[in-house]
Amino acid sequence: MALDGKELILGVTGSIAAYKAVYLLRELVRLGARVTVCMTEHAREFVGPLTFRTLSGRPVLINLFDPQSPEAVEHVALAERAQAMIVAPATANVLAKAAYGLADDFLTTVLLAVRCPVLMAPAMDGGMWEHPAVAANVATLRQRGVTVLEPDTGELASGLSGRGRLPEVDAIVEALFTALNPVRDLRGERVLVTAGPTREPIDPVRYIANRSSGKMGYGLASAALRRGAQVTLISGPTMLTPPPGAVFVPVQTAEEMREAVLQHVAGASIVVKAAAVVDWHVKHPAATKLKGKQELTLELTPNPDILAEIAGRRTGAFIVGFAAETHEIAANARAKLASKGIELLVANDVSQAGIGFDADENEVLLIDRWGGERALPRMAKAAVADAILTHILALRSAAAARPADRVSR
Ligand code: CTP
Repeated sequence: MALDGKELILGVTGSIAAYKAVYLLRELVRLGARVTVCMTEHAREFVGPLTFRTLSGRPVLINLFDPQSPEAVEHVALAERAQAMIVAPATANVLAKAAYGLADDFLTTVLLAVRCPVLMAPAMDGGMWEHPAVAANVATLRQRGVTVLEPDTGELASGLSGRGRLPEVDAIVEALFTALNPVRDLRGERVLVTAGPTREPIDPVRYIANRSSGKMGYGLASAALRRGAQVTLISGPTMLTPPPGAVFVPVQTAEEMREAVLQHVAGASIVVKAAAVVDWHVKHPAATKLKGKQELTLELTPNPDILAEIAGRRTGAFIVGFAAETHEIAANARAKLASKGIELLVANDVSQAGIGFDADENEVLLIDRWGGERALPRMAKAAVADAILTHILALRSAAAARPADRVSR
């Protein structure tokens, strides 16, 4: 069976959808898994522990300090044994606790102790799922490598209709298979990613920058690492934590980014320039702080085009650029692809709210040098990152099969 002998932890939190965790548990056991269930006190209000105990054949863990439950203090041993942990349903509350690393009950303590893949299947009212606080917590968790599934759309317990239903059991099990058997199709690849904005100084305290958050580039670096690549992440200043395992090179200005890219590009098989490089720098930045309340004219000089420069060097890497456009997206992107001489351009429409700059989602158009064009639907940046990497591999294999237009590695 597909999950034969797998040691899993199923965390159940206090949502009306807690009863569906019973069906999930039954399916996991049917597939051969050995499952330990832990519940929050609130989950107990919805489904009795006896149901889970009967189906799993194991004690249900609720209270960290329950003297009746000797297993309860063994959260570390349990966490070490686990090959995957699923939290289903995951309430907005548990997403927040996990994002902040709180551990005030058995379930959240185990969540901090496990080193295995973690999946969270949210269930909540549509308005809650859309709340910026929840969206920010989900983004933090995804950035850390937690698989947070998208809730389903449909009728909710409140009687309203919206996005917030617990994903179907099949979808959760499918995501579990993926987490247990990760795709390692980038093993042996050396991927260089640039991310974030650059900062071009005006004086010692002021600078020119842009609204880039770095989320797309960091998402690409995380996805490439997960898929087995060696990753170097060259990043302008962002609020993000670099993914563990990447060689991280922090930079400030476009010139510093250029130097770092030129230093690390040798040996890279894939280069993804997701950074939003500021197009100019101040010709003569002031050495001391400029006084305000008077007119100031800045003389700006174009920054070197790093992307065009590395493409011109023909290092053999598959080179991907990004384009932020506000109109005539496809036409502008095609012209940019040709002028830079790169393999693939990822264009996004930064005039639309909720995608592109500083957003958690993106909706991009992939334009390649062989005339192909593919629009991806709006998705979380982590999913866009995976789709871009898959597209790169497909394009590169197709190009390798065309001897006249080979992209060497
Ligand atoms: N890029 C770069 N060096 C620069 C400017 C941009 O490497 N000095 C890269 C970015 O990392 C990105 C792509 O080129 O991959 C963006 O191209 P660019 O020509 O700057 O496009 P836009 O920022 O969209 O600017 P514009 O349309 O104003 O030319």
